[in-house]
Amino acid sequence: MKVSIVGTGYVGLVSGVCLAEKGHQVTCVDIDQAKVDQINQGIPPIYEDGLEELLKKNIKTNLQATTDLRQAVMDSQVSLIAVGTPFDGQEIDLRFIKTVARQIGEVLKDKDDYHVVVVKSTVVPGTSDEVVLPIVEEASGKKAGEAFGIGMNPEFLKEGEAIVDFMNPDRIVLGGIDQKTLAVMEELYAVFPEVDQLTTNCKTAEMIKYTANSLLATMISFSNEIGNLCAATGSIDVVEVMKGVHLDKRLTPILETGERIIPSFTTYLGAGCGFGGSCFPKDVKALKAFGEQRLSPMPLLGAVLKVNADQPYKMLTLLQKYVADLANVRIAILGLAFKPGTDDMRESPAIPVINELLAKGAVVQAYDPIAQHEAEKIFDAGKVAYADSLETAIKDAQAILIMTRWSEFNALPDLLKALNNAPVVIDGRRMLDKQELAKYDGIGL
Ligand code: UDX
Repeated sequence: MKVSIVGTGYVGLVSGVCLAEKGHQVTCVDIDQAKVDQINQGIPPIYEDGLEELLKKNIKTNLQATTDLRQAVMDSQVSLIAVGTPFDGQEIDLRFIKTVARQIGEVLKDKDDYHVVVVKSTVVPGTSDEVVLPIVEEASGKKAGEAFGIGMNPEFLKEGEAIVDFMNPDRIVLGGIDQKTLAVMEELYAVFPEVDQLTTNCKTAEMIKYTANSLLATMISFSNEIGNLCAATGSIDVVEVMKGVHLDKRLTPILETGERIIPSFTTYLGAGCGFGGSCFPKDVKALKAFGEQRLSPMPLLGAVLKVNADQPYKMLTLLQKYVADLANVRIAILGLAFKPGTDDMRESPAIPVINELLAKGAVVQAYDPIAQHEAEKIFDAGKVAYADSLETAIKDAQAILIMTRWSEFNALPDLLKALNNAPVVIDGRRMLDKQELAKYDGIGL
């Protein structure tokens, strides 16, 4: 199929490259000429595991990038909108979606064959039907359901694993205004014959995306609340509690192989120093605001956000159990990114923790395998020192805070022994074995 994808950010580019790999003829559209040039040279403007390889393989055969939206839409049967929907504090900002919908509509005015416009960006329920559809109708002077269809196809990609997630999805959700629209979307995804597909209307598809992310975020905040209670009792470890909880087969089904998925962070019931990233915080806030606008308040989601906002500060409370006065104390921060496998620091719990440490006069030495350059944009120059290795970061540290679950940090107990240093280690991700460290504490312990 001939597909155009508008927006070559994280979602648009990954979708474009993967659909090209699956055999479609894809044109990625962006207003940023520099990005377009990079993509055409096989250089991805973002880092994502496996992206460069697939881009290089498909560029100039099944994939091309352009700034010419008109030509791309003219030449394709379906257009995916994958532009950003930032949260402005009150609601998601639909400015970019509206602009692109209008541009596509203007092209459809001059296009004779039937076309499907699919919203891929995360948008609140009703956006495709009540915002995108009327704009395309107005700009094209044509009627939805006749000259064109409107669809909604949410993404469920995890940063750092986006290519694997796209190529091996758990499910494909297709929303459309009518059967004709859905038929085109089904043809687009026919390249994934094995995958569970759910076809529905646009509003439901939009709601599925928000509900899925809000559920995962709720599970995390729930685990964190239980973890905080465990810690308050002084003798219960949340890691053990969650193991016991997971033995319920409804939570951890036994696989065909007879094996059980070990309770861990991947199940979203891992207590820690809080969730971050570009999706969970924004999506939960947007769904809560949407509920309030529809006079259906969402107190549960309010609590999920409140627990998450407070959670990073638990790291400081724990630390101050051991070092009451932090002035001039050397603290190693291990991990800056909101999760391992990415350099993304958006809404990372490391940000409030570092700011608070600095405010208390601590000397902060941070180490992250790849996110340092992002951190440098956030903290004032000279305030945070960056170590170029784990070893350097911890050498003279008087306390260590683990903020990101990088597997490299598993070496910490051995490294500390070798360095003959035994500072307190506060584990914000509960990734280390408490028996292996002289002074160990962590969330939910
Ligand atoms: C998420 C969703 O997983 C994805 O489906 C959606 O489309 C986009 O948002 P992502 O933002 O890449 O993906 O992050 P994810 O791997 O889900 O982790 C989110 C955060 O939760 C991280 O900060 C992580 O450290 C934290 N987390 C995860 C916990 O605190 N506890 C857990 O048990 C699991």
